[in-house]
Amino acid sequence: MEKLNGKKINTAVFISGRGSNLRCLISQYKKKSSPINIKLVISNKVNAGGLIYAKKSKIKKYVINFKNKKISEKKILQKLVKNKIDLICLAGFMKILSSDFINKFKKPILNIHPSLLPKYKGLNTHKKVIQNREKYSGSTVHLVTAKLDSGKIILQKKIKISKYDNEKTLEKKILKIEHKLYPKAIKKFLNSNF
Ligand code: GRF
Repeated sequence: MEKLNGKKINTAVFISGRGSNLRCLISQYKKKSSPINIKLVISNKVNAGGLIYAKKSKIKKYVINFKNKKISEKKILQKLVKNKIDLICLAGFMKILSSDFINKFKKPILNIHPSLLPKYKGLNTHKKVIQNREKYSGSTVHLVTAKLDSGKIILQKKIKISKYDNEKTLEKKILKIEHKLYPKAIKKFLNSNF
């Protein structure tokens, strides 16, 4: 993978839905001075709201349903190679990538997860956090490995949960911090000895 020697790092963002993190990454990395170039947006849902941001910014989109995971991942890998992608950022991508895919891609894959990992891996994090009456929650950007939500942590942001918070308000609060956290974590990652 090219480091920051003046050349932008071709990046693909994977989404499944709303795409508010994608929207923020696009606006953050539009600048000429940006170290990455969001070249491709991949979605497993044809109706993912976030696809609109790719369209607005004239970024190539590729939609593939994961009915057959093996074939879908093979086609994605072909797209990644064709577009010379060096970095993948998962942003609300609801499919688990196989270890075969991760090994074949060989380059870094980042993910943003709405909890203070290693706590609350997997789905329904806000619901579980509220049910367990946690005092804090947050979001984590980490490297993707074959083990779900378990790769090296790059950056984490913690927030205090108020007694008035519920699943919805917590989701909203965390999403807000994620929009700043993801670009910051990417910057940190690119400046590290990965
Ligand atoms: C975010 O909370 C992210 O942490 C999780 O999925 C959500 C995606 O939101 N992985 P959006 O699609 O970026 O708005």
